[in-house]
Amino acid sequence: MSDQHLTVVEHPLVQHKLTIMRDVNTPTAVFRQLLREISQLLAYEVTRNLAMTTKRIETPMEAMMAPTLDGKKLALISILRAGNGLLDGVLELIPSARVGFVGLYRDEETLQPVQYYFKVPEGLDDRLVIAVDPMLATGNSSAAAIDLLKGAGATNIIFMCLLAAPEGIARMKQTHPDVPIVTAAVDEKLNAQGYIVPGLGDAGDRMFGTK
Ligand code: URA
Repeated sequence: MSDQHLTVVEHPLVQHKLTIMRDVNTPTAVFRQLLREISQLLAYEVTRNLAMTTKRIETPMEAMMAPTLDGKKLALISILRAGNGLLDGVLELIPSARVGFVGLYRDEETLQPVQYYFKVPEGLDDRLVIAVDPMLATGNSSAAAIDLLKGAGATNIIFMCLLAAPEGIARMKQTHPDVPIVTAAVDEKLNAQGYIVPGLGDAGDRMFGTK
């Protein structure tokens, strides 16, 4: 499913791996490994329209003009801490990418994001910026992270997540209509605590075994 603002990657491998991740009985190490694998499948979609050019190379047979990526190296921005679970896999695919971190935690009472860290590469204004965070829930943290990235000069941003709630998508569409979202699934709703249901629980805890 795809429109200008939202792409749901319905590929069977993505959906199969996501189902295993959702299962409460899936151990931490398997969860982390699957997140890494899905991150690469999502990245395939996210990078679909990267600018290309050609360069002259010699194959063992003859010279040819061969396609190659164009433009400045892209920037991957992990929204801490759960974003790190998506970051590593994407970085493996695009090892020359620059990497930044946005530290936001969610105040459990107000559900509002509180910033505690911000370090991003220079020259964001002419890079494709891929912001990664597994869970687009209320959208408060994601929208705040995108605000910070735009404040640092980013103009070409894609938001990549694993699961999204309709509320989070609506919030992002309202605050950042210019930022496309790529996700593996859109779930039913948020619960009163701001968790996605059916969801997969707290992505950071599932990934790092902190609960
Ligand atoms: N963050 C999570 O880790 N899980 C949710 O369901 C919502 C936000």
